[in-house]
Amino acid sequence: MSTPITPAQVDFSDPAVPASPAFGDVYHARAGALAQARHVFLGGNGLPGRWQGRRCFVVLETGFGLGNNFLATWDVWRQDPARCERLVFVSVEKHPLRRDDLARAHAASPLPDLAQQLLAAWPPLTPGLHPLHFEGGRVELLLGLGDARELLRELVLQADAIYLDGFAPSRNPEMWDEWLLKQLARHAAPGTTAATWSVSRPMRRALAALGFEVGLAPGLAPKPEMTAARFAPRHTPRRPAGRAPLAPGAREAVIVGAGLAGAACALALSRAGVACTVVEALSGPAQASSGNPAGLFHGTVNPDDGPHARFNRAAALATQRLVAALGLPHQAGLLRLETRLPLAAMREAEGYVQALSAAEASARAGTTLAQPAWFYPGGGALDPAAYTRAMLAASGAALQTGCQATALQRDGDVWSLQGRDGACIARAPLLVLAGGHQQLPLLGPLGADLQVQRGQLTHLAEAPWCPAVPIAGDGYAIADGQGGVWCGATTQDGDLEPGLRADDQADNLARYGRLAGRALAPAGPLAGRVGWRLIAPDRLPLIGGLAAPGNAADQLRLQPRLPGLLLCTGFASRGIYWAALAGQLVAAQALGLPRPVEADLLDAVDPLRLALRQRRRRGG
Ligand SMILES: Cc1cc2nc3c(=O)[nH]c(=O)nc-3n(C[C@H](O)[C@H](O)[C@H](O)COP(=O)(O)OP(=O)(O)OC[C@H]3O[C@@H](n4cnc5c(N)ncnc54)[C@H](O)[C@@H]3O)c2cc1C
Ligand SMILES: C[S@@+](CC[C@H](N)C(=O)[O-])C[C@H]1O[C@@H](n2cnc3c(N)ncnc32)[C@H](O)[C@@H]1O
Repeated sequence: MSTPITPAQVDFSDPAVPASPAFGDVYHARAGALAQARHVFLGGNGLPGRWQGRRCFVVLETGFGLGNNFLATWDVWRQDPARCERLVFVSVEKHPLRRDDLARAHAASPLPDLAQQLLAAWPPLTPGLHPLHFEGGRVELLLGLGDARELLRELVLQADAIYLDGFAPSRNPEMWDEWLLKQLARHAAPGTTAATWSVSRPMRRALAALGFEVGLAPGLAPKPEMTAARFAPRHTPRRPAGRAPLAPGAREAVIVGAGLAGAACALALSRAGVACTVVEALSGPAQASSGNPAGLFHGTVNPDDGPHARFNRAAALATQRLVAALGLPHQAGLLRLETRLPLAAMREAEGYVQALSAAEASARAGTTLAQPAWFYPGGGALDPAAYTRAMLAASGAALQTGCQATALQRDGDVWSLQGRDGACIARAPLLVLAGGHQQLPLLGPLGADLQVQRGQLTHLAEAPWCPAVPIAGDGYAIADGQGGVWCGATTQDGDLEPGLRADDQADNLARYGRLAGRALAPAGPLAGRVGWRLIAPDRLPLIGGLAAPGNAADQLRLQPRLPGLLLCTGFASRGIYWAALAGQLVAAQALGLPRPVEADLLDAVDPLRLALRQRRRRGG
C-alpha cells in the first residue's frame, strides 16, 4: 500500500529563493542554488575527485526539491574528463513539484540544457521509484516519490556520497532524526561520505553514534561552517546475502533468448558497460512469442495499490520512457474498460491514469461503450518484434542465431553454454536466462511451477470498426493503421497446438464485438498468429538470481545465490509492459547498482519466491 502523492506548493514571490509555505523554509541559500550545491554537497563529499576513474558512483540525497543539487552534480560530472563511467543520483521527495512549477523554478536556470532535459523526463507524480535516464543511460536519476521514512527502508543500494538536504532541522525534524539517519547509514559502506549545510548538534551526534567521523568545514558564506562526515564504523556491516551483486565488475555477458526479455537485458547491461552476446535458437530475433504483430502496454490500478499494481505501474512507465528514447513508432494512449471504477478512482494521477465515464470513454474509442474506463495516456500499443529489434540494435549486442543451448556449466568464474553437439557455444562471467517457455529444460525443477499457455490473435484486414485508441477489456482491439484490426486473445493452458484454430478466431471476433458494443461481421478472410505465454502462479515475472546449493534461507533477502547467473522470464501476457524494467533490474542485480524498484517488489518478482512459498506451505 502506498500513499498518494501531495505535490509541493511553491512560493515564487522572491525569485532568488523559492520557498515552501508548508515548511516555512526556503529551497536553497540566498547565495544561489548552484553555488550551494558545488560548495556544500559536491565539495563536502570530495567531488569530483572521488568519482574519478570509477565505473559507477552513487549519490543518495534526502529531499529532491527543485533538483538543483542533481543538476549541479550532473553538470560537474559532464565537465570532468576523468568522470566515472556512470553516475547514479538517488533522491527521495515527499512533495515533488508539479511540472509547471518545475519549469517556473528553472525558467532562468544557469544550466538551461540540463534543466530542460529534467523537465522533459519529469514523471507523473505517482508513488515509488522512477528511474530516469540521461546521457544515453550514463547518468541516472532514481527519483523516489514518497516519504523518506518509508522509501529509505525500501531502497536497495550502496551509496558513495550522501547529500543531507531536508528543510532546516528546526522546521522539518523528521528528515534529520536518528531513525532517518540510521536508515541512511544502512546504505553506507566504509568510506562513504556525507555533507550538509546544517551544523545541528543532535544530527552530528546521531551521525557519530552511527559510525561516521563527523567534522566541520568552512560553510558557504555567510554561513561560517558546514558538516562533512565519513563513514568509518568499528564493525563493517554485513550485507544480506540475497542482495549481493551477482556478477560485480563483469564486462561480458551471455544472454539466452532474443525475445523481448533477452533484448531488454542486453540493452540495460550494455548501458552499464557490459558487452553482450545473445544466443538464439531460431534464425533471428523475436520469432517466438515476441513475434506477435501488435500488443498492448499499460499500468494497473488497484484500490490497495499492492505489489502487482506498483510493479505494473513502474514497468509501464519504464516502457513509455524507453519507447520514446528509442523513437519507436507506437500508438499512444490506451483505454481499459472496467465494469465499474470503485474506490480506485482515488488513484488517478495526472499523466499516468485518468478515470473516464462511459460517455468520455466512448468519445475516445470512437464507438458507444456501456462501461467506464481507465485511460492510460502513456500506455498504448506497439509492434513487439520491432521493439525487440530496436532494443537489440541499441544495445550493440552480438547475436548468435541458430544456436540452441542445451546445458549450462560453471567453470571457475565463467559460465559456459553447450550446444546440441556438446560443444561450447558461448561463455562469460555473467549468464542471463531469458529464453521464454522454450528454455524450460534449462531451468530444472523451477520450471515445474510455471504454466505454458497457448494464445491466438486474429487479424481482420477489413475491419467494420477500428478503435481510435487501443482498447482492452474482455479481450483487446488494436487498429493496424491500414483499415484492419488485431484482436484477441485466447488462453489455453498446456496446449502446444501451433496451427490457427477456427473456434479461436470466432472467440476473438466475439470479444471484438463486445468491445465495440455490437456484433460485427468481418467481410474478408481472417488471419492470425499463435504464441505461448510462460506464467508463474502469482502472475508476476521471475527476475533474479537462483539459489546456491546449501541451506534454504527463510527470507529471500538472506538466500545466497549462484554467482553470475540470473533468470529473466515468466512474462505472461505482459512481455511488452515488463521488458524495460526487467532488463534494468537484471543489470542492477548483476552489477550491484541501485535497484530500480523497492525491496518488497524485488521479493515479489524473485524467482525463488515460488520455492519459498512451497516450503512454507509444507511447514519447512
Ligand atoms: C496471443 C498473445 C498475445 C499477447 N499479447 C500481449 C500484449 O498485448 N502485451 C504484452 O505485453 N504481452 C503480450 N503477450 C505476451 C508476450 O508476447 C510475451 O510475454 C513475450 O513475448 C515473452 O517474451 P520472452 O522474451 O520472454 O519470450 P520469447 O519471445 O518466447 O523469446 C524467447 C527466445 O528464446 C529463445 N530460446 C529459448 N530457449 C533457448 C535455448 N535453449 N537456446 C537458445 N535460444 C533459446 C527462443 O527461440 C525465443 O526466441 C501476448 C502473448 C500471446 C501468446
Ligand atoms: C531544501 S529542499 C531540497 C532542495 C533540493 N535538494 C534541491 O537541490 O533543489 C527540502 C526538500 O525535502 C522535502 N521533504 C521534506 N520532508 C520530507 C520527507 N519526510 N520525505 C521526503 N522529502 C521530504 C521537501 O518537500 C523539500 O523538497
